[in-house]
Amino acid sequence: MLKRRLERIGEGIAKKFAEHGAKLALIDIASFENVWKEIKSIKRYKNENKKLEEDIICLKCDISNETQVKKAITEILKKFKNKKIDVLVNNAARFVFNNIIEATNEDWDNSINVNIKGHIYMIKHTSPHMDHSGKGSIINMASVSSVIAQPNFITYSLCKTALLSLTRNNALDLWNKYKIRVNAICPGTIFTPALANDMKLNQMNESQYADFKLKEQIIKRFGTTEDIAFAVLFFASDESTFCNGSFLFVDGGHTAL
Ligand SMILES: NC(=O)c1ccc[n+]([C@@H]2O[C@H](COP(=O)([O-])OP(=O)(O)OC[C@H]3O[C@@H](n4cnc5c(N)ncnc54)[C@H](O)[C@@H]3O)[C@@H](O)[C@H]2O)c1
Repeated sequence: MLKRRLERIGEGIAKKFAEHGAKLALIDIASFENVWKEIKSIKRYKNENKKLEEDIICLKCDISNETQVKKAITEILKKFKNKKIDVLVNNAARFVFNNIIEATNEDWDNSINVNIKGHIYMIKHTSPHMDHSGKGSIINMASVSSVIAQPNFITYSLCKTALLSLTRNNALDLWNKYKIRVNAICPGTIFTPALANDMKLNQMNESQYADFKLKEQIIKRFGTTEDIAFAVLFFASDESTFCNGSFLFVDGGHTAL
């Protein structure tokens, strides 16, 4: 039984960007209570509630609903007085795991609507409002599952593979149209609530789960949300201006084997 609170990858990214002085718009269908608490505790916002509220907006939005996405972007632009958006991180995901025989139409819809269409809506409606001077950067959260097969993963894996196409095609089209770079990160096994849930479903304790999950990894540890946040920071920054259409595997060597 896990006693400690596990951080989501999106929370880790938001915290890292806040630490580096970014103004943030967070979009999720779930609660922002934990991430808000985390950001509030970083040095520049300690006892600075007004500044925190000026710099960060949290919006409940289902990214698989195009109308909600458009509304959220409008609210973000209003909040930040129509300033250009520098970075879009497409991190949300719905975890649906099944094989081709047993997957229902509902499984496919649940997975595709969030994991592919949701990201299409986010890119489509955000990119016109992004920086078009060469500083705009879109980062898609793909996965090692984009390139490898795992048992009963097709409903998830297919969507993560589609994100690579969404990355490469938009790296071309959005650069030509708006000078926006589009790159993808492919995380390996990061110990987040999603993994803890999988561990529970497999009825394993943490050490059994580590043996099971890490056997196909060169570096024998779970990845952290910070490992991923640093990779996102790289693609968002001017240190990566020659990267466009790149896939960065942050996976402890999983896909190298
Ligand atoms: N954890 C891993 O080992 C791992 C490995 C490879 C890739 N990834 C990818 O990293 C990303 C984050 O994963 P995580 O482990 O932090 O998962 P998570 O479930 O903790 O976080 C996913 C977030 O997406 C949000 N979300 C789900 N459906 C949504 C919707 N319709 N609209 C808006 N928000 C929605 C959830 O509420 C949640 O906050 C995902 O894209 C995932 O596929 C994770």
